[in-house]
Amino acid sequence: MTYQQLNAPVDIKQIKFRYSLAKWLTTGSMLAVVLMAFYSLFYPVLHGSKHRLHLVTDDNESPSSQPNSDRRNNNNSSSSCRFDGSTTMTFPSEGDSSYTPPSPDDTLWQALDYVSAKDYDQYCASWDPLQGFSDDLHLENQDCGNWQKTFSDLQEHRLQQLDKLKSGAFNGSLSNDEIPYFVSYVCEEDPRHRGSHGCGGLADRMSGMLSTFFYALMTNRGFLMNWQKSNPTSLESVFEQPNINWSFDPKEMKALYNTKTLGRHSVNTLNFNWERIRSAMFPQGPSQDFNELWTAPYVEVKSNRGYIIRTFSHSTRYSEQLENMGLTKTNSFRCILDYLLRPTSGARRFINAYKQLFQMESVLSIGLQIRTDDQAMAHPEDDTNNFETWDYFLNCANNLRDAKRQPHHQRVVYFLLTDSNKLREEFVAMNNNQTLRDRYIQDDATSMVVTGLPIEHIEAKTVKTKFDANITALDSDHARLLAGVNSAVIDNWLLSYTDYRLISRQGFGKMAAFHATDPRSTISLPRVDRKDRSVDCGNPNSFTTFDTLSTWWSLG
Ligand SMILES: *[C@@H]1O[C@H](CO)[C@@H](O)[C@H](O)[C@H]1NC(C)=O
Ligand SMILES: *[C@@H]1O[C@H](CO)[C@@H](O)[C@H](O)[C@H]1NC(C)=O
Ligand SMILES: *[C@@H]1O[C@H](CO)[C@@H](O)[C@H](O)[C@H]1NC(C)=O
Ligand SMILES: *[C@@H]1O[C@H](CO)[C@@H](O)[C@H](O)[C@H]1NC(C)=O
Ligand SMILES: *[C@@H]1O[C@H](CO)[C@@H](O)[C@H](O)[C@H]1NC(C)=O
Ligand SMILES: *[C@@H]1O[C@H](CO)[C@@H](O)[C@H](O)[C@H]1NC(C)=O
Repeated sequence: MTYQQLNAPVDIKQIKFRYSLAKWLTTGSMLAVVLMAFYSLFYPVLHGSKHRLHLVTDDNESPSSQPNSDRRNNNNSSSSCRFDGSTTMTFPSEGDSSYTPPSPDDTLWQALDYVSAKDYDQYCASWDPLQGFSDDLHLENQDCGNWQKTFSDLQEHRLQQLDKLKSGAFNGSLSNDEIPYFVSYVCEEDPRHRGSHGCGGLADRMSGMLSTFFYALMTNRGFLMNWQKSNPTSLESVFEQPNINWSFDPKEMKALYNTKTLGRHSVNTLNFNWERIRSAMFPQGPSQDFNELWTAPYVEVKSNRGYIIRTFSHSTRYSEQLENMGLTKTNSFRCILDYLLRPTSGARRFINAYKQLFQMESVLSIGLQIRTDDQAMAHPEDDTNNFETWDYFLNCANNLRDAKRQPHHQRVVYFLLTDSNKLREEFVAMNNNQTLRDRYIQDDATSMVVTGLPIEHIEAKTVKTKFDANITALDSDHARLLAGVNSAVIDNWLLSYTDYRLISRQGFGKMAAFHATDPRSTISLPRVDRKDRSVDCGNPNSFTTFDTLSTWWSLG
């Protein structure tokens, strides 16, 4: 049984979506999703089999002007394939309640035309005419230490203890060995401040979840997590559980531990700043024992703040233990994330279609995450963003490209994530418009690539409820909602898989930076009103360290 199937579609349909949906989906993305749905309905009818993915089986295939097709005129390579500018691609549907991505954007196929023949063939080999792209992200051998099995066993043990407790096997007398110690992360709406004071967007939530897990790891507690279903969807509908089962019912858990013999404790560090996190996590200074912070058998945490990197920098108690586990300041976030959460199968296939391009030997890939303002998403008709304003991102990318390009990089790929449709359109136009290209890219071996997914509002927190343009209309359509949340996940994962990334100084890009394998591969750029203070991106000292990133916004 797959995890997706566990998410009863019936339940989901009954969810009352609230105002807080605005934190996740904005007018712009709703519109985009609707358009996409229509598109996928009509596209096959309108274009029929003309635009399919071609299997190159013989040479009589209609000639193509695509740069790679000349190079790849293998008479006899039946395994070779061709993706062209009008390729549509079906991802196998994983069941009613799960997310099925649209086809990748044309810009992906266009960039593929310029990679080396060897890389192209490997790309083809990973693609199956029936199954599409593999959903295996190949996360093994990622240099993540040796703690995983130990923790999975601990979790198993804690869950068994919990089952015993639930079944009433203990009636009042429990020895310390029998007590199921747990810590949980919960994300709920704050009923007093609808929409604005919840647990934040994807990045905020990731900070809270991963740090709470880190606490569990350091204190031998079992670990559970939950997103309130209506806020905006259950965690299980967005992520699979590759290693441990972290699903639980917060109400049931609360009730269970609400006894004299057991006991529970609530921790809330939502929106804490640097100083307050210090007093919450290290009240006794660097020698702080996390076990002494909260002693109740069940600790429930609400948080959108991180303290993992902080622990590496600050703690004297845990340095040896962490070193023995093989965890470091730069691998912890990534390793914990991959251990706990895996995007659903459809999302992984989509991710792989791009990830493989980004990581080709013949490709130098640079991600650009440009967060404009909420205005662009709320009122697309008033979106005036363009690269005249945002030129410093491209200048930085160009300088970085010129500094990092090696002879084996036949092609450079710029991959843009943004909340502005206008900006995305102009970016894509640079593939074909020589005027724009000369002005902003200044190189003929650079391709612009985007996902084409609905523009998701990337920093939920600030979007708040100001765009409550008919949220009720969405209530009945879980699929749309799921597509929005999955787009944010796909975008974030993809940004972590580029060779380098230029990020806006908010949480979203930072999470991708922490998730990247190379800690010296991210440059953060200032807000547009301070663009004159951008660093020189060709300078090897311009990379933003994890230490610096961990002092910003949701900390680290
Ligand atoms: C393709 O076939 C022709 C003759 O049929 C041959 O001359 C040529 O070398 C072949 N090319 C490849 C790549 O095998
Ligand atoms: C094509 O076929 C020839 C002879 O059958 C073989 O030597 C060659 O390796 C094949 N090339 C490819 C690309 O499969
Ligand atoms: C626990 O259960 C046992 C037998 O089931 C019973 O004899 C004992 O009185 C119970 N203790 C309490 C504290 O309920
Ligand atoms: C995970 O735990 C939840 C809650 O205990 C349970 O309902 C579910 O069946 C478990 N999932 C798996 C795959 O074991
Ligand atoms: C290229 O972009 C410029 C600037 O936006 C525009 O004026 C011009 O019409 C475009 N050219 C083509 C061929 O679309
Ligand atoms: C929102 O949509 C619902 C259902 O589609 C409709 O009944 C309602 O009148 C709409 N409200 C506004 C403010 O447009």
